[in-house]
Amino acid sequence: MIDTHCHIIFGLDDGSDSIETTLEMAHIAVSAGITDIIATPHCVPGSFDNYAGDDLDRAFKNIRTLVSDATDSRLNIHRGMEVYAASSTIDLLEKGLLVYMSRSNYMLVECAFDEDPGFLRDTLRSMIRRGVRPIIAHPERYYFAHDSIRPLMDMVDMGCALQLDTASITGDFGSSCRRTAIELLDSGAVQLAASDAHDAFSRVPDMRDAAKFVAFNYSSNYADLLLEINPARVLENRSMLFRGQNSSGRQSPSANRFMTDEEYWGI
Ligand SMILES: [Fe+2]
Repeated sequence: MIDTHCHIIFGLDDGSDSIETTLEMAHIAVSAGITDIIATPHCVPGSFDNYAGDDLDRAFKNIRTLVSDATDSRLNIHRGMEVYAASSTIDLLEKGLLVYMSRSNYMLVECAFDEDPGFLRDTLRSMIRRGVRPIIAHPERYYFAHDSIRPLMDMVDMGCALQLDTASITGDFGSSCRRTAIELLDSGAVQLAASDAHDAFSRVPDMRDAAKFVAFNYSSNYADLLLEINPARVLENRSMLFRGQNSSGRQSPSANRFMTDEEYWGI
């Protein structure tokens, strides 16, 4: 499995707080069948001021080496960031201060839980216009989605991907998040699930229970798609697939025509 959302780098945000925790998280991930982690420290201006640059490069490099040594090269760490949608986001993007997922055009984006869906949509649209492929982090945890998933479906049609927290699927964030996660799984609009792990005791990088839930209630193909196939496509900067769609498929879940990269990006 490939974990596309994990706060494994210590000392940068509210995730790992020490080398020991980082290495413990790495061992948990390996035991849970994870081969690759995209490390996604928060970028929240004023709270977690992590921006692209030498300091962050050093942190990624340091963790990659530490984790590789501690796990006999069984766990690869890739670069990423969890970008908080705010009024300054586009300015930061244009200044090159935000970090993409590995070497792709994908960028992980979150917003305040009580954010107005209109603001999130407008921010994502501005990012898409500037060449970003946004991945919306834990859409099932936003309050507007508990009322209706329609705004999220519109964002998917715009070209955004949805990434569920595995803890929402297993019910660890309560009934509203779980109900919304299942509604999104039912819809077929979800393309990724990830641990969003923050530590080694409670929010850990272990996605097996969620994988079992999806495999049992839907299919093992769907679980593979969310945790293995699409995450690999993020690392390869390829378009992600929807449930039931093979690599030559062209239908989005809302039955709008699925555009090719060439049509979408004009390249
Ligand atoms: Fe996160």
